[in-house]
Amino acid sequence: YTIATIIGARPQFIKEAPVALALRENFKEIIIHTGQHYDRNMSRVFFEDMAIPEPDYNLNIGSGLHGEQTGRMLAGIEEVLIKEKPDYVLVYGDTNSTIAGALAAVKLQIPVGHIEAGLRSFNRSMPEEINRIATDRIADHLFCPTEHAVSLLSKEGMTKNAFLTGDVMYDACLHFLPLSEQKSNIVQSLVLTGKEYLLLTIHRPSNTDNPETFLSILKAVAESPWPVVFPRHPRTKNVMKNPEIRDILSKAKHLKIIEPVGFLDMLQLENHALKILTDSGGVQKEAFFLGKPCITLRTETEWVETVEAGYNVITGADPEKIVQAIHTFYPKHEREQYYGDGQAARNISEQIKKVIIS
Ligand code: UD1
Ligand code: UDP
Repeated sequence: YTIATIIGARPQFIKEAPVALALRENFKEIIIHTGQHYDRNMSRVFFEDMAIPEPDYNLNIGSGLHGEQTGRMLAGIEEVLIKEKPDYVLVYGDTNSTIAGALAAVKLQIPVGHIEAGLRSFNRSMPEEINRIATDRIADHLFCPTEHAVSLLSKEGMTKNAFLTGDVMYDACLHFLPLSEQKSNIVQSLVLTGKEYLLLTIHRPSNTDNPETFLSILKAVAESPWPVVFPRHPRTKNVMKNPEIRDILSKAKHLKIIEPVGFLDMLQLENHALKILTDSGGVQKEAFFLGKPCITLRTETEWVETVEAGYNVITGADPEKIVQAIHTFYPKHEREQYYGDGQAARNISEQIKKVIIS
């Protein structure tokens, strides 16, 4: 049996790494890279760091307006699926590559599995929320990272096709942390060995596309008593051209802006940080996996367990809340493990075997 895996954006490469290992024990896999992310440090570096098999196809779709980008992906993926005739298609997460892959497959009546199904922010202004709702609705099998995701799908009437598998990002974190300890020297190279520092990532349109919102985050972060390492997603480049923002940046000497880093470097930056500030879904979870306090620069989160456990605080872009959290937020209790046991990829592969054979 052949599985076609559709990926295109940074977090999908990371999720694919453990899944490819597990899938290839049972199936032939074809990887279709949409080309949604294309800079070396947004794409290629992950294939190298994590030894992900080379994509069989790269559609080179690149950036664009949502409709245009998704539409071009849909046509490109359809063409490959017609040619390759896979038995099953796998899509990941909530990006435009996810919905394009799922839609291309269902229209060709190829069964589709959705990894990281059942996530909801209940904020329909997020492009990801629309992608998730639509993908869950049309996919045949919904692979859920948490019990909460299973229960949200059940409230939407999707019970029979939802499977609790655990989170493949937890698999990736467990698997690559020892390698990153061995191979990455990013903490040393930033002269932060043994020092307390904060790690910051920002890429949500709600934070990057509005200079005022970005500015209020930046002003709060500029008050940090510790150095702040900021691997900058390409989406934030434009907003940083704003004169007021440039002015703050030029004065905030403790803010270390670096290019986006590979996964092995990122795990080290996360694992040695005092606290993590982020609007990323994946980074919130990794903070939790590594037991780091997380300050979430959004007004809500899909990863509600991390907040309930006391390891994540939701501040939005409110400068007072951010400053307070930087100074005072620390988890008070031990945490439970909500994300499986590091075998999510294997569970997914086994589940696909069952449904394909039956
Ligand atoms: C996308 C996903 C988001 C995910 C994020 C992970 C959608 C709608 N959004 O957001 O869910 O959390 O990826 O990082 O699918 N750019 C480059 N080089 C690249 C890639 C992007 O310069 O390699 C720049 C381009 O100016 C582009 C912008 O970043 O227009 C945004 O890229 P895009 O893929 O549309 O959305 P992301 O913000 O990356
Ligand atoms: N990440 C990385 N390098 C960076 C920033 C993030 O390797 O410079 C990793 C991070 O460790 C996590 C994933 O990218 O595994 C999260 O992706 P992103 O924040 O782009 O998207 P989201 O998870 O919000 O969809």
